[in-house]
Amino acid sequence: MGFGAVIFDLDGVLVFTDKYHYLAWKEIAKELSIDFTQEDNNRLRGVSRRESLDIILEKYKGPSLSEEKIEDLLERKNNLYREYLKEMSPSDVTKDVRDTLKKLRENGLKLAVGSSSKNTSFILEKTDLTDYFDAVADGTMITRSKPDPEVFLKAAEFIGMDPKDCLVIEDADAGIEAAKAAGMHQAAIGAARDSHASEYEIESISDILSL
Ligand code: BG6
Ligand code: MG
Repeated sequence: MGFGAVIFDLDGVLVFTDKYHYLAWKEIAKELSIDFTQEDNNRLRGVSRRESLDIILEKYKGPSLSEEKIEDLLERKNNLYREYLKEMSPSDVTKDVRDTLKKLRENGLKLAVGSSSKNTSFILEKTDLTDYFDAVADGTMITRSKPDPEVFLKAAEFIGMDPKDCLVIEDADAGIEAAKAAGMHQAAIGAARDSHASEYEIESISDILSL
């Protein structure tokens, strides 16, 4: 393996929180009489909470919303989402993920998380994943979300790695673009494989070990 570090996206890669984002946004969309579908939800992968709401509002036909109302919607979406997150536990992480993280560490690689989510620390704690990582860069530390490379560059800086020695694992097209813009290697998993836009495509996390 020719990499010095692996930077993992969180949602959709290490844990499967998409369904919780979906349920929380669906409730907010309903209030606004917006028909929010699974397909719409797929477009929210990797993008920030605020940008997600902007995408959802593309279908909105009601009177214009004040900044205060927008803030209120964002806060309530997050509260709904966190109610689901509270129920998460270490059993929400697959054995494949845990074993792979362990092996990568044993092989001397640095490991980091690079996520747009402001709930990253909470999720890592609930699922008992925190200790596997040398550093975490998340939505609370950046001003521009994916496809901007900021979060990945920050992760590389935290672990003292040159971007060209980092491999990013992503399930979002925006994340693959961000990794490319950061000058990092990229492996697509899950939904990001469909666009065939990344350097590697993997079926399961353990496939990283044979790249
Ligand atoms: C990303 C998810 O990881 O985090 C997006 O893929 C989400 O769907 C984004 O919008 C922001 O998440 P949060 O937890 O800060 O609302
Ligand atoms: Mg993701």
